[in-house]
Amino acid sequence: MNVLVVGGGGREHALCWKLAQSPQIKRLFCAPGNPGTASMAENINIVATDVAGLRAFCKANAIEFVVVGPEAALTAGLGDALRAEDIAVFGPSRDGAELEGSKAFAKGLMSRGGIPTASYRVFHDARSARDYLRGGVSYPLVVKASGLAGGKGVVICEDETAATDAVSSMIESRLHGDSGSSVLIEEFLHGEEVSIHCLTDGSTMLTLPTSQDHKRLLDGDQGPNTGGMGAVSPATNLDAKGIRRVEEEILFPTLHQLSKAGRSYRGVIYAGLMLTRSGPKVLEYNARFGDPETEVLLPRMQCDLLEPLLACAQGRLESVSDAVFALDSRAAVTVMLCAAGYPGSPLQGAVIAGVEAAEKREDVLVFHAGTTMSHGHLRVAGGRVLAVTALGADIAAARKRAYSAIADIQFEGMQYRKDIGMRALSGALAL
Ligand code: AMP
Ligand code: GLY
Repeated sequence: MNVLVVGGGGREHALCWKLAQSPQIKRLFCAPGNPGTASMAENINIVATDVAGLRAFCKANAIEFVVVGPEAALTAGLGDALRAEDIAVFGPSRDGAELEGSKAFAKGLMSRGGIPTASYRVFHDARSARDYLRGGVSYPLVVKASGLAGGKGVVICEDETAATDAVSSMIESRLHGDSGSSVLIEEFLHGEEVSIHCLTDGSTMLTLPTSQDHKRLLDGDQGPNTGGMGAVSPATNLDAKGIRRVEEEILFPTLHQLSKAGRSYRGVIYAGLMLTRSGPKVLEYNARFGDPETEVLLPRMQCDLLEPLLACAQGRLESVSDAVFALDSRAAVTVMLCAAGYPGSPLQGAVIAGVEAAEKREDVLVFHAGTTMSHGHLRVAGGRVLAVTALGADIAAARKRAYSAIADIQFEGMQYRKDIGMRALSGALAL
């Protein structure tokens, strides 16, 4: 079978790495891919949101199955366009992807389904939002752009000035373009975060291992939100009973509401949750695999990944055996190496050294997130540059191994968190 992975970051490198191990794949392509995917797939120079270009490529190259990485491709309607050509697609339709693409839609769905989440209000103009902020709300609170903003459209505000600034920058200055034409103002939730991914074909659902992202830029969860600075799996704050509760209170009702709303969904639902004292609550939904969660999850999965992903795309997930859950019992830790200036304006072009040495270490994988080959050198070409993943007997061992491998890698301005996994090590069970 010929398979195409769409996207060009660390998540897609991890997907290609795992799929390339499948004996069922004849040719594996990645569009646009990156220097990391080039060693296991054929990179195709088409961007993820070029729906017409990708459709033409698939037809010309007898592609039978497409795995979509980034949300922007899904909300651009890539899934619908390919399905219209009878190509199996892992990734929801455009209206299914609204679960991520419109926080206003997601909140409406949660309220119809009684799914626990922060209380909120939606505003389409800055004046009514400011009036609301003046009217005796309590702080901190959270201001969010309703549309896609690459993980950067969320501002936690300690006071009214910060909140009105956030509202103005989103609605009036269009910091995130049209994604900020509507904003949500929501209750700040206290607790521990966890990422839950589940595969679904619209009727059956399989929950994947838990993971925990580290969203803030700096050690000790300080600094601005980013796309994610590192991850661990399993998350230590949710046990099997907690996972069942999440399935019953959140995941199953989410699927039910999607199907009730007639939204076709064949792909992954990734729920970012806050484990609060009163139970798990949804912070956000994503319509695709998390990044860096994918880089920490896939190395722990022992199945041929093609099987469950294709079964989702073909609407026969029920037929997939429990082998999907066959896990490497070890823990995994991923640390993101980022460019100077990330997340604001990352400095591009620095030469990267030492990746091969790091990769040679046992139980270490280096996934390319934002790199390019130019003038004979591997160079920085993004904010998040490399995802270094290590497996170990437990989180302590995995993180030690990841940080030792990082010592092999250098580029000018390289920044990364030194405390990935520390919270999981110290954390008590939250649910
Ligand atoms: P989101 O993109 O909605 O997941 O938000 C990004 C990050 O902002 C989350 O991972 C949380 O760390 C934080 N966050 C979002 N919403 C809330 C909330 N209501 N209360 C507390 N923290 C939040
Ligand atoms: N790790 C955060 C995200 O993928 O949205």
